[in-house]
Amino acid sequence: MSFNSQSRPPVRLGVLISGEGTNLQAIIDAVRKGALCAEIRVVISNRKEARGLERARQAGIPTCFIDHRTYRSREEFDRHLVEALLAHQVELVACAGFMRLLSPVMLRAFPNRIMNIHPALCPAFPGLNAQRAACDYGVRFSGCSVFFVTEGVDDGPIIVQAVVPVMQTDSEQTLAARIQAAEHLIYPYAIRLFQEGRLEVRGRKVWIDGVSPVENQMLINPPLE
Ligand code: GRF
Repeated sequence: MSFNSQSRPPVRLGVLISGEGTNLQAIIDAVRKGALCAEIRVVISNRKEARGLERARQAGIPTCFIDHRTYRSREEFDRHLVEALLAHQVELVACAGFMRLLSPVMLRAFPNRIMNIHPALCPAFPGLNAQRAACDYGVRFSGCSVFFVTEGVDDGPIIVQAVVPVMQTDSEQTLAARIQAAEHLIYPYAIRLFQEGRLEVRGRKVWIDGVSPVENQMLINPPLE
């Protein structure tokens, strides 16, 4: 089955960031290349100095800074987020290194329409410093996961995962770089699947229309001798 993304309107995207914004950049680049049919309507940061804001400005995307410290509660902050996103007619929210937990206020406004990316194979190593946790634990594989945000931390229905090997010589930084390269492939892909209307959340699971089965693929680390 083939899916023609051009037959559907571009997905109106809002991207939430707090920092570097390399995932935002990967999404911007995918749109530019025509690999993702999306309009990034707004990039919102809770940190004024976030490098991602500059990336957005360079790409001509409207930006918005909402300082979480000026709100009394998470809910109040989220109400302003919702307002800003709706003012830009956003239909899908992509958290990309956004360092805030979302309250039911956001989740209710965008049910199954908020994605996040986590630098580990969920449900392993939720929360902060997932790459360091994977190194310290001694797992032979880690990776990254794009999922629909729920109230829990990094435990929503999983859309796409990528696996990378962990070398015994890895530091947190070398593993993070390997995972990051995979993030930049799977986040635009997950958004594309949404734009093509192929994602359906069924309880804990995401059903993807028309995917090819992964066959004859086995990774063993270290490789068999
Ligand atoms: C990524 O590692 C992502 O998995 C995590 O935060 C980081 C954001 O990086 N949620 P960047 O700001 O996109 O470069």
